[in-house]
Amino acid sequence: MQNVSFYQKLSLFQRQEGQISAQASKTIDMNATTAINIAHVGVHYRTQEALRDVNCIVKSGRLTGIFGPNGAGKSTLMKAILGLVPVSSGSVLYQNKFLTQQLEKVAYVPQRSQIDWTYPATVWDVVMMGRVKKTGWLRSFSAVSRQVAKNAIERVGMSEYGDRPIGELSGGQQQRVFLARALAQQADIFCFDEPFVGIDQKTQTVIFEVFHELAAANKIVLVVNHDLGESITHFDDLILLNRELIATGSRQQVLTEENLHLAYNGKVMYFSDAA
Ligand SMILES: Nc1ncnc2c1ncn2[C@@H]1O[C@H](COP(=O)(O)OP(=O)(O)OP(=O)(O)O)[C@@H](O)[C@H]1O
Ligand SMILES: [Mg+2]
Repeated sequence: MQNVSFYQKLSLFQRQEGQISAQASKTIDMNATTAINIAHVGVHYRTQEALRDVNCIVKSGRLTGIFGPNGAGKSTLMKAILGLVPVSSGSVLYQNKFLTQQLEKVAYVPQRSQIDWTYPATVWDVVMMGRVKKTGWLRSFSAVSRQVAKNAIERVGMSEYGDRPIGELSGGQQQRVFLARALAQQADIFCFDEPFVGIDQKTQTVIFEVFHELAAANKIVLVVNHDLGESITHFDDLILLNRELIATGSRQQVLTEENLHLAYNGKVMYFSDAA
């Protein structure tokens, strides 16, 4: 069933692709474009090779998705970019310097399963944590920081929940709070790992709206996702992985039958034949 639904989603995508490609071009100042340069990145977990020789560029002003099957190394690539797992080869540069030396420019929301939802913090506490890098732990938050946090909470529609412990919120509300924390960081680079898992439609809409606003503001927005359904049409650029880079470039360049066949080990062809 899982594979049938995958094929159905793919067909839906292919039908919609033509309709929305006209909206895809965005006006950005190309002179101001910055990029993360990922060169020859490999990652090993003990003896297991999780990623091999990944080369790609993540540009500002674009919404970029990392796609691929379970265990493809999507989260590993994001963690390698952020220095959260050591690379066994290669480098990740931003503006000609190692990105790991400029992590104050990055906001990262990890995969849901990696967040401790029992941690005794309110919505306000979580979002204010996003201001720590700007303010420092030992100094009290400025009026500016409070206003930035307030605006971020408002942007994701969580103003009424400021005093709520995060553990008491729905999955969608929790994801919106972490999005607000990322916004409060006022970063240049935004990284989200599977932000659409376990959330409601309203939250998905809010998250994509914010992603598009960030891209329009010429930020780098990098999102791990696995859903090949219609939501993929929100992405400008894709990085398609399966332990190594299968394809990268614009959504239209990457989403070919051949690339999907390679990434998903032939499952697309199999169900295409069966249809
Ligand atoms: N900390 C770890 N120690 C050992 N192996 C790991 C570790 N983290 C990931 N792996 C392995 O590395 C491979 C890639 O994992 P990763 O979590 O990056 O994949 P993914 O594409 O994000 O998968 P998913 O869609 O399930 O989130 C998998 O085989 C996984 O089991
Ligand atoms: Mg993952």
